[in-house]
Amino acid sequence: MKAFPFPASNVTRILEWTRRRILGGPDPKHGAQSHAALEPVLGGSITPQGIGGAAAFALFTDTIVPSTRPFGHPTSLSFVASAPTDASLSFDAALGAAGIFAGNWDGGAGAIHAENQTLEWLAGLAGWGDSAGGVYVAGGTLGNLSALHAARDWKARRMARPDRWAILCSTEAHSSIRAVARVMDVDVIEVPPDETGRMSGADASAACAPHVFAIVGNAGATNSGAVDDIAGLAELAHARDLWLHLDGAYGLAALSDPNTRPVFDGIERAHSFTVDPHKWLFAPYDSCALVYRNAADAANAHGQSAEYLDAVDKTHWNPSDYALHLTRRARGLPFWYSLATHGTRAYGDAIAKTIAIARDLADGIDKMAGLELVLGPQLSVVLFRPTGMSDAQMDQWAEAQRRSGALLCLPTTWRGQKVFRLCIVNPQTSVAGVLETLGTLTTEAG
Ligand SMILES: Cc1ncc(COP(=O)(O)O)c(C=O)c1O
Repeated sequence: MKAFPFPASNVTRILEWTRRRILGGPDPKHGAQSHAALEPVLGGSITPQGIGGAAAFALFTDTIVPSTRPFGHPTSLSFVASAPTDASLSFDAALGAAGIFAGNWDGGAGAIHAENQTLEWLAGLAGWGDSAGGVYVAGGTLGNLSALHAARDWKARRMARPDRWAILCSTEAHSSIRAVARVMDVDVIEVPPDETGRMSGADASAACAPHVFAIVGNAGATNSGAVDDIAGLAELAHARDLWLHLDGAYGLAALSDPNTRPVFDGIERAHSFTVDPHKWLFAPYDSCALVYRNAADAANAHGQSAEYLDAVDKTHWNPSDYALHLTRRARGLPFWYSLATHGTRAYGDAIAKTIAIARDLADGIDKMAGLELVLGPQLSVVLFRPTGMSDAQMDQWAEAQRRSGALLCLPTTWRGQKVFRLCIVNPQTSVAGVLETLGTLTTEAG
């Protein structure tokens, strides 16, 4: 008798739902519910005797899933959404069942080797060689923290420790960089970018100070899609012996599109980068690829040791040596499975398609009376505003579209002005459909 008996019919029920969900996709009308709405249904779900697998799963399908945002739907164009392939989603279910510990080689050799194939592909797109390597962590925030910890450790071996350390980045750097700086207790020197959101090497150089240990370049700023002057930043890093980290959580997916690759020129000389397959590389949550040009630098900074870990074989590739973690799932494997299944060319094509969708949307917006194209497209981000609407009307319109499931298009702020932001990561997004919905902005204005 198992300690936790679970009838096979429950396994079948869960797998059947999983199958339908993967093939049918999310419902665009789903979205957050209030605590007051959720508590009466979910509040009593933890009981001494258990409610049983069927009842608990019904809570998941009928209450939990409908009260989550359907980021995987092609009408989800806010924040940075997600567009996992059917291959990656179905494989993720199998991966969960396999229960692999992928913190070290002893536990997850096959899985780690396969993950490393994808990291090699990414490193190769950056023009890096055999000394490159890294690991998958949960998200861009943790990736940035792990890279910058490695950076400071690297720099501390090369100079006398200053009273304070500092990171240099653009004011358009993602909020996670400031969060990381707080965790590391280092200063942040912020450099204003140009009117497109791009920080130049010259401006970064003018702002650089002796206590800087790392430059963080935007390889696709979240708000604007801007890519910093990576070649200029690489030159500065080289001249001052600084670590160059590129935050490409969103944008570096576009390395795989040969036509877009040149915007990242200079990446060959960077020391590390992050890119989240759960954003624009068609993989499910949660995965951030953290890649170092010289992986040994990271191992110096991150490796953990303890008596009970002495038994771990240190001669192999242990992912726990490359980021701030020990136990981990092989979260890069759904990406590996999808990439292995479809091939790298399909990935480049899908990225190019999303960029084309952004371009077509920007053209359509530009031509539509009553809409002003404010910025872009840069990578796949477009900023625009309805000329005849107040800020409050913009909010109301966005909420109505979200509720109806027509479009998730939320406002942001650009240069002090409220604007709408579109970020396309899904090759299934319909240009005609989005433009039709945006047309209601002009009819409802005024
Ligand atoms: C450029 C950039 N960096 C970092 C992050 C943080 O990534 P995560 O949400 O996976 O922690 C994001 C998230 O949108 C991002 O766009």
